Amino acid sequence: MSAKTRNVIRFVKGSPTMDGAGVNLTRVIGTRELLDLDPFLLLDEFKSEEAKDYIAGFPSHPHRGFETITYLLHGNFRHRDSRGNEGFLTAGSVQWMTAGRGIIHSEMPEMTEGLVWGYQLWLNLPAKDKMTEPRYQDIAPDQIPVVDKAGVTVKVIAGDYRGQTGPSKTWIPALYFDVSLASNTSFEHPIPDELTSFAYVIEGQAQFGSAEKSYPGQAGNLLIFGEGDDIEVATGESPARFLLLAAKRLNEPIVRGGPFVMNTREELAQAFQDYQDGTLDQ
Ligand code: FE2
Repeated sequence: MSAKTRNVIRFVKGSPTMDGAGVNLTRVIGTRELLDLDPFLLLDEFKSEEAKDYIAGFPSHPHRGFETITYLLHGNFRHRDSRGNEGFLTAGSVQWMTAGRGIIHSEMPEMTEGLVWGYQLWLNLPAKDKMTEPRYQDIAPDQIPVVDKAGVTVKVIAGDYRGQTGPSKTWIPALYFDVSLASNTSFEHPIPDELTSFAYVIEGQAQFGSAEKSYPGQAGNLLIFGEGDDIEVATGESPARFLLLAAKRLNEPIVRGGPFVMNTREELAQAFQDYQDGTLDQ
């Protein structure tokens, strides 16, 4: 049986958003245009050399019911939570946090000048795992395998690529690659149908999908792949760098309110109540 290439079925540009205590960022998933992409709930890109865009950070706020995955390309962030956990993110590091039943944390830049550039992704938890104990995976840059061959460089944050396995433990089958392609280079990777998959272009431009039906994408574009079992990307004169994500669809109801994502209105109301009562993270 030959592989069927997954072609682009939807194309989305991010929208400028303010979040935290006044951080300017680009929201790509979790907008009015693209509320969610089961099981992905949110994707933000923060990229600025202006301290005023990021300095206010994300002071103390709660989460329940999903995972937040922060991938920092430039800059430094400190993470603290109400249970006494603390982590320091440097350029190239990943924090894969399972909020589970609840955490209250802050995410603050630890710099006053220079470029801050990174991504935060929210990945849903299955209903049966939403109230699990919180868990942190602080992943240093040197723990992330890099596969570099014939103009294709893949940082394997989660999932498998050509015999290398990313360090992140995931609740549902998922992959997270940071892919760089030289000019006139092609990339191919099998991703089965039951995994929702998208690419977010972070630099340059490339063609996504099969040669006959490829779709152009450039920095700031999200490309969602349709059915099939193989991802193909090719560059022309320009090189490209993109995040490639995939995770198994949950097909469960999503009821979200601010920092909480549950399955029913009652569970959502309970999350707000627990936060008010000070028991969210107990
Ligand atoms: Fe957060």
